Amino acid sequence: MIISSATDFREAARRKLPRFLFDYADGGAYAEETLRRNVSDLAKIELRQRVLKDVASIDLGTTLFGRKVALPVALGPVGIGGMYARRGELQAARAAKAAGVPLCLSTVSICPIEDVARVADPFWFQLYVIKDRAFMRDLIATAKAHGAEAMVFTVDMPVPGARYRDAHSGMSGPNAPLRRVLQAMTHPRWAVDVGLLGRPHTLGNLKPVLGNNSGLNDYMGWLGANFDPSIQWRDLDWIRAEWDGPLIIKGILDPEDAREAAAIGADGIVVSNHGGRQLDGVRSSARALPAIADAVGDRLTVLADGGVRNGLDVVRMLALGAKGVLLGRAWIYALAAEGEAGVAKLFELIAKEMVVAMTLTGVNRIDAIDRSILAEDER
Ligand code: GLV
Repeated sequence: MIISSATDFREAARRKLPRFLFDYADGGAYAEETLRRNVSDLAKIELRQRVLKDVASIDLGTTLFGRKVALPVALGPVGIGGMYARRGELQAARAAKAAGVPLCLSTVSICPIEDVARVADPFWFQLYVIKDRAFMRDLIATAKAHGAEAMVFTVDMPVPGARYRDAHSGMSGPNAPLRRVLQAMTHPRWAVDVGLLGRPHTLGNLKPVLGNNSGLNDYMGWLGANFDPSIQWRDLDWIRAEWDGPLIIKGILDPEDAREAAAIGADGIVVSNHGGRQLDGVRSSARALPAIADAVGDRLTVLADGGVRNGLDVVRMLALGAKGVLLGRAWIYALAAEGEAGVAKLFELIAKEMVVAMTLTGVNRIDAIDRSILAEDER
């Protein structure tokens, strides 16, 4: 299939993946209203076309948490990324490093911190709020020992969201393992690349709690059983005590919470509704972002995710107040479609799309992108 835009990877991934995996990445909670609004609200943001502004040379580089990066994006944490291509997180890490983009590894990755940290640069690690604090402490220590430069602490998953699509497609629900085997058999390219050659499919970082035999069933079970809804802002003190590097709180959708994050000394936040995978009906990231950036943008680094599928979307998020953008589904689709080469191509396409958007809005530097490039009634 011809990939001419970053958004083309979704269809290529759909063709290649067994349904349970495509739907797990592609789907959201309940009726997926928030998931759709993340995309459609962002796509509706109108930019202000400017001309004759001498934008012959455009610099897409910026600085995130003290490191120069080539694009204002990072690969956001996505669970079981290694199921989407053979040792998928490693392939993505290689592409991200070559492109000068940070990779944030999920707690529930297939490839463990030890392997990915060797390849990724800059390397960030994502941590969940889990009941077993000693295990959390160990994860922080491992990430630190392997050179993680930022800790992304996910706070919008005190319980797993109601992902009804997963039950229909075999990620969960009745006879899920059997249904997954049948789907794999009808997707031979995936079955050989990942099913056979991409083993082990264990959750690399959860070995100490799940052992060597952990598989997808344990994944869903573990997520459900181990999240901790009792956490409060003051609990973040002990994370601060364990982790002295940049701390980024992911899953902020309200200015009040953003102020709390700033008050506990977070270095960054990610404005996010977990890609519409948690509470359906909450506001889209694009609509939530401006008020949050106004509330705390001068106190910490505001990142955002949700609905970003191409370079034009990246520019829109920056115009709405983000300093950087996390990609989720966008890189998973590219990885599933074409592996490392797909993720590398995704960065190229995003860069090209950003250059066009910046040229036609009359800005040539990332830090010049602000609300002034939005149409008047969007500001
Ligand atoms: C895990 O974070 C998920 O959204 O499935």
